[in-house]
Amino acid sequence: MNEPLNIDWATLPFGYLKTDYNVRSYFKDGKWSDIEVSDSENINIHMAATSLHYGQEIFEGLKAFRGVDGKIRIFRLHENAQRMRESAMGLCMEPIPVELFEEMVVKVVKLNERFIPPYGTGASLYIRPFEIGTSASVGVRKASEYLFMVLVTPVGPYFKTGFGLTNICIFREYDRVAPKGTGRWKVGGNYAAALAAGERAHAMGYSAVLFLDPKEKKYLDECGPANFFAIKDGVYITPESESILPSITNKSFMQLAKDMGIKVEQRHITVEELAEVQEAAACGTAAVASPIGEVDDIDTGHKYVIATDGKPGPVTTALYKKLRAIQYGEEPDVHGWCTIVE
Ligand code: PLP
Ligand code: COI
Repeated sequence: MNEPLNIDWATLPFGYLKTDYNVRSYFKDGKWSDIEVSDSENINIHMAATSLHYGQEIFEGLKAFRGVDGKIRIFRLHENAQRMRESAMGLCMEPIPVELFEEMVVKVVKLNERFIPPYGTGASLYIRPFEIGTSASVGVRKASEYLFMVLVTPVGPYFKTGFGLTNICIFREYDRVAPKGTGRWKVGGNYAAALAAGERAHAMGYSAVLFLDPKEKKYLDECGPANFFAIKDGVYITPESESILPSITNKSFMQLAKDMGIKVEQRHITVEELAEVQEAAACGTAAVASPIGEVDDIDTGHKYVIATDGKPGPVTTALYKKLRAIQYGEEPDVHGWCTIVE
């Protein structure tokens, strides 16, 4: 377990790398168990578990950073804990108490401290809490027993281009979620539903699909693994939609934009409005802010070239730098977004 690490932190992809420990808690007979620390990468699960047959699976994604001062910071722990409760209620699962979520995340980060990438490498420790229905049922009903686990793994940038321009596309023949469906929760099935479109996009050289609102197919919704924002005439615009995940990174950027005196509008954005924006980006925990070079609307053949000078725009760059500076402890955390792990 204490073999020396041979990790090239600066070139880490966004993938899975084995770490030392994970933490688990089991919900049974109306209560969550004491926290179990495990060094196994496997779980033992009943073959008729509701998560395997009827998709009772939800997750979260957040990151821990090694700061300029050597301290460990977890970004927006409390908000992720709260969102996980919303997801649980959306799928009739047992909501995890916020305190338990926070305690388990802090514990697993401490236990795997040697896997937190050093300051200056640009990498971070990705934290993946998830909950599954574990009790057996062949009839379609909610489980009575659940497992909540947290694993961690060191990661680099989600899109290969990092903070370089990336191209994305719109496919009108695919929807990721239904209008009043599960898009607002972090549900594993949403990602399965987006795989076919995503694979096709990757095969065509795009890094992601920009999904349209599933009701009217008129407005921008979000990217497969991230929210979307654009800068139009100096205003930060981002879709208002009931079928997208309320991104904590997007909320952070909206706050930072306001702090910088930039007007923020959360509203419907039509596909055609892409012709009028000067900057655009995918944003999320994994994506951070990934500036978009071009959005190609495959079915209409329309190509929206956003970054006309071939580089990330000034507002996206400023927001990205500000967020990273807070996460790495280079600038004061005036909004109290970071939990320092002692
Ligand atoms: N939208 C989707 C579908 C996602 O998977 C993610 C990633 O978590 C986001 C948006 C961004 O959310 P957050 O910024 O909270 O990570
Ligand atoms: C995240 O940004 O945390 C995500 O969950 C996106 C992706 C890895 C699915």
